[in-house]
Order: sequence, then structure tokens, then C-alpha cells
Amino acid sequence: MDKLNIVVISDDIDIKIKIKNLIDGDRFAVSGFFEYDELTALKILGHHPDVVIMVYEGDGGSVFQVAEQVYAELRGAALIMLAETVDIDLLSAAMQRGIRQVLPLSETAEALGEAIQKAHSLEKKRSAEGERSRIKSRVISFFSGKGGTGKTTLATNTAVALAAQGKKTLIIDADLQFGDVTVLLDLDPQDTIYELAREVDEMNIDVVKSVLTMHKSGLDVLAAPKSPELAEYIHDRTLEIIISTVRPYYEFIIVDLAPGFSDIAIAAIENSDIVNLCACVDIVSLKNVKTSLGILDALRQREKTELILNRAASGIISKSDFEKILSLTPKICLPEDKEVLSSINKGVPFVTGAPRSAVAKAIAAYVNTLCQE
Ligand SMILES: Nc1ncnc2c1ncn2[C@@H]1O[C@H](COP(=O)(O)OP(=O)(O)OP(=O)(O)O)[C@@H](O)[C@H]1O
Ligand SMILES: [Mg+2]
Repeated sequence: MDKLNIVVISDDIDIKIKIKNLIDGDRFAVSGFFEYDELTALKILGHHPDVVIMVYEGDGGSVFQVAEQVYAELRGAALIMLAETVDIDLLSAAMQRGIRQVLPLSETAEALGEAIQKAHSLEKKRSAEGERSRIKSRVISFFSGKGGTGKTTLATNTAVALAAQGKKTLIIDADLQFGDVTVLLDLDPQDTIYELAREVDEMNIDVVKSVLTMHKSGLDVLAAPKSPELAEYIHDRTLEIIISTVRPYYEFIIVDLAPGFSDIAIAAIENSDIVNLCACVDIVSLKNVKTSLGILDALRQREKTELILNRAASGIISKSDFEKILSLTPKICLPEDKEVLSSINKGVPFVTGAPRSAVAKAIAAYVNTLCQE
């Protein structure tokens, strides 16, 4: 039987850790931790949780606001509230918002497990849609501290390979000044993320769809602005809203980033399920990977980070040296291949233009693992 998918909302990191430790990993899987803000309900929408655990904090205003939104918009997601102290006023306020169970924070793992199961079965009855089809959505960012490591090459080819397999896929070119995803795909977009950012207050999936460009593989593309000076109109919050808006509608959302820890990059990383840290096999890259891993750790994003090694044959240190020093096994290892340049010049991604090349095979293997996970 599938594990129940749980999300946890609290502004307190220690409480989040405590709840994570209380949750029985054999029966339940925590797919995300969130804080209270006006985007919380939107953000958790794409995670399709079976159960939402909310911690009662502060005066409860934002807690109840999020509860109301989740109850109204997320059929099939049962609400549970944990509070320092539970009294009759809190119980009745919670019930009015559709919260199924209210428990003290001091509750045992067994009691929490029982409450989760009970809330879930009650909610299942409410859900008129029953077993509705759900899209499992994954946001994958391609990041590197240093430029020129192959982020765009990898992101674009991964996205095209996913789309070619029939996966509903979107690529967001979040290299806002020098994004070149559309060059690699030989597309001439009419609208870009810049036009979309101007609609940030009216954002919904139809607005997003109206600015996308479609590639012949079936991949949807949200292009970077046409000119570097337009980048300043797109804020980290705008990117966060875009990702949250599209999440329920795509199986894969690939985000190509500019090098470095900009606000935009951090927003993308925080809103991703997987961060692909791209590096070439040389001593400078090695140093940059170590620094980047340290920062990702400090940002509490290290767990979702995977290492991607590119141009493996060209380095002065070997792949195994690289692995040894970092104590990290790369998820993909892409060789140096002349097909990369030739595919860029043709505007045809190598995964479709040269499927027998070593680089295309490496991406195909990666995409297969993604599709099976
Ligand atoms: N495996 C490879 N074999 C040969 N050339 C490669 C390979 N990967 C990338 N390149 C080349 O390296 C250059 C940089 O690649 P790419 O633009 O994908 O990097 P990037 O990380 O997106 O760069 P930036 O940080 O500037 O956005 C390109 O000219 C590309 O053709
Ligand atoms: Mg790039």
C-alpha cells in the first residue's frame, strides 16, 4: 500500500524536526515542510498531500487563514492541528475551518499516527472526486556557483527527453539576463517571463499558458526576457509564485539558472524538489562545488542536492578523485562530446538530434531513473 503523503506547516524549525521524528516512516512520507505566509496554500497544492499537519502558532490568524484555503481548494487533503495547549475555544475554531483532529504537541507517535489515519479516512469520504487522477510533480533546478558548467545544456536536454517520453514538462529559463534556452531549442518566443511578471497580481495557470512557447517535442518553454535590463523586473517572489502556480499542471518543471547564489537562484532552489549541482572535472570546479555544498547546507537545501559531473574526460583530476574528495557519487556523469557544440549550432538538442551519442545516452539513463522514481 502507498504511504500517505504528508506536509507539515510551522514557522518553528525545532517543531518541524520534532514532528518529523514523530511520524512513522513505514506508513507515512513527509513530502514537504512549509511556513505560514499568503502563498502557503498555493505552494502545497502541487504536492497533493493526503494529510496537512498545521501547528497552531501566534494568534492563529494565519493558521486559520491557510486552513480555510486548504479546506476549500484541496479536496482529499485532511487537516490536523497540533497546539501547545488544546482548549474548547481552539477546538471549536478549528472544527469550523474543517480541521479534522486537534492534538497537543506533546502527543505520542502512536496517537499522532492514529489521528493521521482517522483524519485521512474521514477526508476520503468527503472527497467527492474519490480517486481523482493526480499528477506527481517535480521541480528540478540546474545550479552551479561558477558559470559554464553545462547547466543550460543539461537542463534543456533533460527537459526535451522528458517531453519526448510523453511527460508533461515545462522548462523555465531563470537565467534572467543571458538565458539561452530558446537558442538551444531554435525557438523565437513572442512572450517571456518578463511579460508574465507584469501579471503577478493576477497570476493563474491560464495567464502562464498565454506566455509559453511550445517546442516540437511537446515541451513548454517559459523564455528568459529578451533583453538583460528587463531582468530587474522579475523578483524572487515572482518566480516563487510562477513555480507554485504551474506545479499542479506539470509532471516535471525544469529550472535553468544563472551561475551563483542570487535571490532568484535561492528562490528556485527553495522551491525545488531536486537541485542538480553541475560541475566540470577540474580543480576550480571542485573548490566551487565544496563552497556551494556548504552554502546549500546552511540554507538547509543540501538533502535535495545531487551532483552532476560534466565534461568528465577533460579534467586534470579524475572522476574518482572528485568523488573521493567530496564523498559524493554523481547522479549523472556526462563525457566531453563534440555533439554538444554541433547540436547547439543546429538548434536541435542532442537527445533527439544525436540519440546515439554518449551524452544523449547519459541523459536518457538519467531521465529513465527520474521517470521510475
Ligand atoms: N559535455 C560537453 N561536451 C562538450 N562541450 C560541452 C559539454 N557541456 C557543455 N559544453 C559546452 O560548454 C559551454 C557551456 O555550456 P552551458 O551553456 O550549457 O553552460 P552553463 O552552465 O549554462 O553556462 P552559464 O553559467 O553561462 O549559464 C557551451 O559552449 C557548451 O557547448
Ligand atoms: Mg546557462
